[in-house]
Amino acid sequence: MRIAIVGSGYVGLVTGACLADLGHEVILVDNDQAKLASLQRGEVPIHENFLPELLARHRGGRLRLSGDLAASARESEAVFIAVGTPPTEQGDADLSYVESVARDISGSISSYTLVIEKSTVPVYTSNWIRKVMLRNGAKAGMFDVASNPEFLREGTAVTDFLYPDRIVVGSDTEPSSAVLREIYEPLTSGRYYREPHAIPRPEGAREQFPVLVVTSTKSAELIKHASNAFLAMKISFINAVSSVCETVGADVKQVCQGIGLDSRIGPRFLNPGIGYGGSCFPKDLLAFRSVARECGMDFRLLDEVIRINEEQRHRFLRKVRSALWTLRGKRLAVLGLAFKGGTDDIRESPAIFLVQALVQEGSQIVAYDPAAMPRAKEVLPAAVEYATDPYEAAQGVDALLILTEWEEFAQLDLPRLAGAMKYPIVVDGRNLYDGPAMTEHGFTYYSVGRATAVPEDHATPVASNVPGIQPSVEMPQAHSHGQPSLQERKA
Ligand code: UGA
Repeated sequence: MRIAIVGSGYVGLVTGACLADLGHEVILVDNDQAKLASLQRGEVPIHENFLPELLARHRGGRLRLSGDLAASARESEAVFIAVGTPPTEQGDADLSYVESVARDISGSISSYTLVIEKSTVPVYTSNWIRKVMLRNGAKAGMFDVASNPEFLREGTAVTDFLYPDRIVVGSDTEPSSAVLREIYEPLTSGRYYREPHAIPRPEGAREQFPVLVVTSTKSAELIKHASNAFLAMKISFINAVSSVCETVGADVKQVCQGIGLDSRIGPRFLNPGIGYGGSCFPKDLLAFRSVARECGMDFRLLDEVIRINEEQRHRFLRKVRSALWTLRGKRLAVLGLAFKGGTDDIRESPAIFLVQALVQEGSQIVAYDPAAMPRAKEVLPAAVEYATDPYEAAQGVDALLILTEWEEFAQLDLPRLAGAMKYPIVVDGRNLYDGPAMTEHGFTYYSVGRATAVPEDHATPVASNVPGIQPSVEMPQAHSHGQPSLQERKA
């Protein structure tokens, strides 16, 4: 099928490359000439597994680049809108880019064309796109508007696209669902997976071919917002539970295992940490809350999800203080700046927030991230130093903080790390290690929702000066974060 994708950002680029790999003829349209030129030269603007090879495979063949929206729409049977929908000051989505695309393609529709929302948009957007197109001269009957939300995670977006749990198609007419069925047929029939060049199935992906869930356009729009809100709620829920674990001296990892094995709940998105970030959850929660408000509903559950998420960063900061007593003048290694592992994206990254807060408190930061350092340098204070690997970052530091769940941070050479540091103190915001393994190598190990692990010969009384963290006695591998356990307090 001949397909135009408007917007060559993260969603558009991945969608375009993957649709070309499925065998479609794709034109990627953008009004940013510099971006088009860089893509044309073979540069890949985002850090995404398999994307460079898909772009190299199809660029100039089944994947063309263009700055001419009207001409691209004219020669396409389907037009995906994948432009940005940034939040406004009030938190709702700014749909002016979507509107301008709808306006610009109205005059180019000369045979039946399906316009598909791919960007995350509030419910009713498809109605608005339709109205704008009719107002600008598109003929009713010559086009339909459908919603096909994406569920791609950064870092694994290509395999998420090609091996999805489900494909949601929101369409209100038979011709529009037929077009979307045809677009995804190589996946739903399994044909793509038999091709020798197919991107390999990632570990953990479903064996079955993906199903197409056909809904109304409004339902599809809501599915996207509700999915992201639910996942964010799961994270905030487990973060709140982890705080209870710290207070009573329980282990959140064991609690997660116990609840995650219930098939109604499931183990995924139950990793506690320093809170969710990124360009999606924070923005989508605000937008969903706004949509609910406009419909007259005060969706307070979302307020609480957001509040717990913000509190989680502050709680971590208090934990660093409780580990180090004072922060001024302390040299701290920071592993991880991206909002999660596997990406160079630092948007709404809790790690960036924490580095800024620590610098403000007078700490000296030496950071390392496998991919996000160039972007982080643009926003972090000039005083932050950067290392070329975790061991260089750890050289002579008072403590090391783990802020992003990069796989390589879970496989550090612990004796080498301990040897590099001035004091072997690790404050892990992502729970990448277990206490006993850390104390064995001489580390005092703070994590989230679990007891602070202290090597036997280091178990000394410590007084905390941190509000909300009580003075306590650190016990070898048996204590919550600077807080006496409930049993101990009762005793
Ligand atoms: C998220 C959704 O997972 C995708 O399905 C969706 O398509 C995308 O938003 C979007 O709307 O475009 P993404 O933002 O790439 O994808 O990242 P996630 O993997 O969902 O992680 C989001 C944040 O939650 C990260 O900061 C991560 O560290 C944190 N997280 C995730 C946790 O703290 N705990 C967990 O158990 C899982």
